[in-house]
Amino acid sequence: MSNNSDEHLMIFDTTLRDGEQAPGISLDANEKLEIAEQLAKLNVDYIEAGFPVASQGDFDAVQAIARSIEGPVIAGLSRTSLSDVERCYEALKDAQKNRIHVFISTSPNHMEHMLKMTEAQVLEEVKRGVSRAKELTDDVEFSPQDATRTPMDFMMQVLNQAIESGANCLNIPDTVGYGIPWDFGALIAYIKKEIRGNYVISTHCHNDLGLATANSLAGVQAGARQVEVCINGIGERAGNAALEEVVMAIKIRPDQFNNISTKIRTEEIAKTSRLVSRLTGYPVQYNKAVVGRNAFAHESGIHQHGVLEERSTYEIIEASSVGQLGRQIVLGKHSGRHAFVDTLNKMGIKIQGDTLNAAFVRFKELADRKVQITEADLEAIVGEELGIHTKEEFVLDSLELKGGTVGTPLAKVTIVNADQKLTAEAKGNGLIDAACNAISEATKVTAKLIDFNVSSVTGGIDALGDVIIQIESDDIKVTGRGVSTDVVEASGRAYLNAINRLVKIRQRNEIIEKVSGP
Ligand code: KIV
Ligand code: ZN
Repeated sequence: MSNNSDEHLMIFDTTLRDGEQAPGISLDANEKLEIAEQLAKLNVDYIEAGFPVASQGDFDAVQAIARSIEGPVIAGLSRTSLSDVERCYEALKDAQKNRIHVFISTSPNHMEHMLKMTEAQVLEEVKRGVSRAKELTDDVEFSPQDATRTPMDFMMQVLNQAIESGANCLNIPDTVGYGIPWDFGALIAYIKKEIRGNYVISTHCHNDLGLATANSLAGVQAGARQVEVCINGIGERAGNAALEEVVMAIKIRPDQFNNISTKIRTEEIAKTSRLVSRLTGYPVQYNKAVVGRNAFAHESGIHQHGVLEERSTYEIIEASSVGQLGRQIVLGKHSGRHAFVDTLNKMGIKIQGDTLNAAFVRFKELADRKVQITEADLEAIVGEELGIHTKEEFVLDSLELKGGTVGTPLAKVTIVNADQKLTAEAKGNGLIDAACNAISEATKVTAKLIDFNVSSVTGGIDALGDVIIQIESDDIKVTGRGVSTDVVEASGRAYLNAINRLVKIRQRNEIIEKVSGP
């Protein structure tokens, strides 16, 4: 059978078959259908929807996908037995275009320990399974399982048998991830040279040595025109080659692949990745190529400066081309002033001079204690710094705490007032109470706490605690706000912030009284 394979590299997505074989993943028919719809939007050439003989659920899912998905060819996996092949076809037959993917192990290891068959028996099985599949559909793929541990002469016999029986696509599985790129590439080149005729050679690489993408690319360079891949690289054990990695390598470096291209709509990649992650429950590692949340994030000052000037200094992929957000400046302890100011500007916060300097210092202090600083954190810091720079009467210098499950909680506070340092110690009914009492003691301002609210500004165990407090004194009610990774410190800051407001209101009222007279 002839194929237009030379025109582009075909993407055979096996997320719903090999991907679903990953430990702990079990997708129901509706979930599989949702993923298949997204794979069709991504424009993969093939969707391997499942292994219909494996269970009724798998059969139903393959059938549902075959009946409703338009565009990609729908494939199903089958062993060589007639009943397997027929069951596979039964599930696929309503598809616009279908493919039966027949496989059998060919390595001495698998033949001895699993199949308990001789080479002659395996060849007979190939003939039987592939021929039956060919009677049912004209698109048949054959895979010699564990190909990379199969002696070459036997593999060529098997592949020739598959061709004679009607296979049009020969897939070479590196079932146990044993291949090394140049070795696997040489294997594909050899098969390509030996197999005469217009047959598609395909790769199916597992990631046991972390080489699945590299091996697939070596296969493409050597002439493979189909790659079998999974979204997010999921699959048996360490997984399969990741679709997004293979596709983007081909797109970014066509010079290395004879200018071949895929038909993937790469802008759909991130969305597909998120969907697969959500439905399988498999998180995407932060630093995963292309789809990881850090794939376009920059933390170090030098890199941030670079991408802010020109994206290509530290990003080789245009983020929007894979549906991601580019030039993500992540503020952390390695970030510089440049990125800090840029982030504030983007947030619409324009501070300068002393306020900016103080906010930057506070940001650096916080960044040392916290893994990642978010916009919400920045808003909180700057808001607080702005408050301080509208001439706070009292500024927190230090807060020491002593407490636990035994003994009375104790707080020692030092507060700066004009050029003076005011220090006080106090006990309390809990650390927060002790901190507030010590602040009252040092400032000589007493007030009744009437409301206390703590929330987390950001997620994670190192989140910033955001405390809003309301106090009352002489019929004046004021609120104060404080933010810190430590909730007691945040409470102390909020209390002091409220006291500063109270003092300001009193001073203003005194001035007003003086001016208006008795
Ligand atoms: O890894 C493998 O060998 C397979 C085959 C069924 C193609 O998944
Ligand atoms: Zn596999």
